[in-house]
Amino acid sequence: MKPIAKALLPWFGQYQRPLPWRKAYDPYSVWVSEAILQQTRMEQGVPYYDRFMRRFPSVASLAAAKLDDVLKAWEGLGYYHRAKNIHAAAQAIVKQHGGKIPSTKQTLIQLPGFGEYIASAVASIAFQEDVPVVDGNVIRVISRLNALEEDVMLPQTRKKIDSIATEMLPLGKAREFNQALMELGALVCTPKSPQCTSCPIQSHCRAFASGKQEHFPVKPKKAKTPTRNYAALFVEHDGAILLRQRPHSGLLPGLWELPMVEYSPLKDGALDLEQKFLDELGVFPKKLRHISSVRHAFTHFKQRIELHEAKASISSDSELKWVGRKNVKKLALTKSAQKMLESIK
Ligand code: ADE
Repeated sequence: MKPIAKALLPWFGQYQRPLPWRKAYDPYSVWVSEAILQQTRMEQGVPYYDRFMRRFPSVASLAAAKLDDVLKAWEGLGYYHRAKNIHAAAQAIVKQHGGKIPSTKQTLIQLPGFGEYIASAVASIAFQEDVPVVDGNVIRVISRLNALEEDVMLPQTRKKIDSIATEMLPLGKAREFNQALMELGALVCTPKSPQCTSCPIQSHCRAFASGKQEHFPVKPKKAKTPTRNYAALFVEHDGAILLRQRPHSGLLPGLWELPMVEYSPLKDGALDLEQKFLDELGVFPKKLRHISSVRHAFTHFKQRIELHEAKASISSDSELKWVGRKNVKKLALTKSAQKMLESIK
């Protein structure tokens, strides 16, 4: 076996975290865990995983579920198109594969939402296919091991990292080795202050040899994310709140939010918020009273939302809905709607 694998596999055997899907490596568990962990830190992801598995314990139960219920289970995780995809993929697995998760990367990657990462992770971790898995942790580990000076955001650098990962992989050990690299990145080879003294492959690391661990991975300087301004409404009438379900495509598909409009404080000089609400959402708010400012960050922009309490009537063609106080909790709300409702209590 190659020296890196020879040192890394026993380390993984001893120090891996006891995660729920690591008991039996059941393919459905592996898939759900990877879909959740693709965007979420382990500490936050595990409770979601546990709840998701209790709610949808099998491919069949997930395929049979209503999309709104899947979105509800995903609430707070962000990246809601992943919840839509996981639901669509479960249905495709039932329809096209008799309910059995396909066992090769080549077949997995055809399923909705199965990109390079998930397909490789499920194929190798659940089915022991000899394919590498490259996530942010693995990129960091490989870029340090090899002291890669190239910008890791560039496609050609990714290609290089993929081929290094393929080269390193000990055949027949993909489940353990791929996870060992990720685990090393999470526990030892961390972005800041890596624990090089406890690293099982320190002697193979060119970054450590030069004392420049934190210089890697090399990334381009981040552009500042823009801030966009919104006005939102809290309208309550007879114990019901006015809400809007977002369209099933685009940002935050299918989630519920308080009615809100985007405005530009600079351009919309004589801002007629009431008119804007009427034009865009078919609701005419009156007696606006500012109650709070809520901020929320997406990967590509920040939201600053000014929440107003108001009285309002809605036009007959408005898509807004009155939702009883008790029923609001049952809907999958956007994070910013949760923050706004929280700010009112
Ligand atoms: N991050 C995402 N998937 C992981 C896994 N299987 N093991 C460790 N870290 C992970």
